[in-house]
Amino acid sequence: MGMRMFDRATAEAQSVSGVTVVRWEQYELAGTVPFQAMWYEVPPGAAAPLDRHPERELSVVVAGTAEVEAGGDTVRVPSGSAFLLDGGEAHRVRNASATSPLVVFSAYWMPAEQTVGSRAAAVGSAGGGGEGPDV
Ligand code: NI
Repeated sequence: MGMRMFDRATAEAQSVSGVTVVRWEQYELAGTVPFQAMWYEVPPGAAAPLDRHPERELSVVVAGTAEVEAGGDTVRVPSGSAFLLDGGEAHRVRNASATSPLVVFSAYWMPAEQTVGSRAAAVGSAGGGGEGPDV
């Protein structure tokens, strides 16, 4: 398969609690890459809903600054930097700015069975529909 370009501006988006989500499922990459992915945009001054899922999640801040709450800590992640969440780790992402949008790219995948064990089974997903992380 040759190079493919994914244009966020023309992609199919959905609104999840005020957050604009562009899921990469629409690119039908399943089986060709070992992860799923999405972009999401949090409006100025807003926060994404609390999220928790068995997948590990690597997020790169594409625009703006994220305020990430997880494991009792809150960390500011500026544009160009990234954060990695463990499976089962509850997290909430806030837009740190009252004027600029926050755009994040996230890739997520189920951890290898050995490292997850009964933990993922116990954690389950707080999101709706079992299609992976909400945001
Ligand atoms: Ni998540």
